Amino acid sequence: MNSNKVIAIDGYASTGKSTLAKMLSQHYNLNFIDSGAFYRAVTLFALEEGFLKDNYFDQVALESALEKLTLKFEPETRFLFLNGENISNKIRLARVSDHVSSIAAFPIVRKFLLYQQRQMANENGLVMDGRDIGTIVFPNADHKFFFTARPEVRARRRYDELINQGQEITFDEVLNNLIHRDKTDIARDIAPLRKADDALEIDTSEVTLDQVFNYLLEKIDSK
Ligand code: CDP
Repeated sequence: MNSNKVIAIDGYASTGKSTLAKMLSQHYNLNFIDSGAFYRAVTLFALEEGFLKDNYFDQVALESALEKLTLKFEPETRFLFLNGENISNKIRLARVSDHVSSIAAFPIVRKFLLYQQRQMANENGLVMDGRDIGTIVFPNADHKFFFTARPEVRARRRYDELINQGQEITFDEVLNNLIHRDKTDIARDIAPLRKADDALEIDTSEVTLDQVFNYLLEKIDSK
């Protein structure tokens, strides 16, 4: 495969997109970008600056503060830095997960991140995962995949991951958050979650990571 290829992986929350995107990026020696981490970072920023509270959002304040915001993603470690601070753990906290989909629906936020995401597609190509990568960010991507899985399976995997990270959360809270985020992501006006017409859909409910990985390699190498 040429080294400047773009591979787009979209799909529902917690279907294994980022894990597989990283595995592909290592296999093909491409950059890897977890676009969801950037939406989480803007949400964390809005919460920490006090622009966002449970029933309050100051869109104007966030918009003017966005220009001071620098985000840097380190593909190897999957660390994300917000104005120099490593926020990789904080962006996975429940209060960020609870608000991220509503923040991601705002046109100013999407415009800000769309620009940054397109800038990241340099001469080396990349694997990027998210919700609108194959439809909006890179509609001409060389390979497009769309991941689905049953909600209970997704919630179980995410629950185990969060518990391993030491978070205090229940299975039902995780499940409800995934269902709520999917609904909000599908319903928004700008760049909603949907499968690109030319994306290949993969249900990851009953298969291992390695099985999905091998299937993706087969599809990519045979195209
Ligand atoms: O890892 P998980 O599947 O739970 O979600 P994520 O990739 O971290 O994305 C968090 C949220 O960011 C999603 O629920 C979307 O609301 C938003 N997002 C988006 O709108 N567009 C993207 N390209 C990526 C994420």
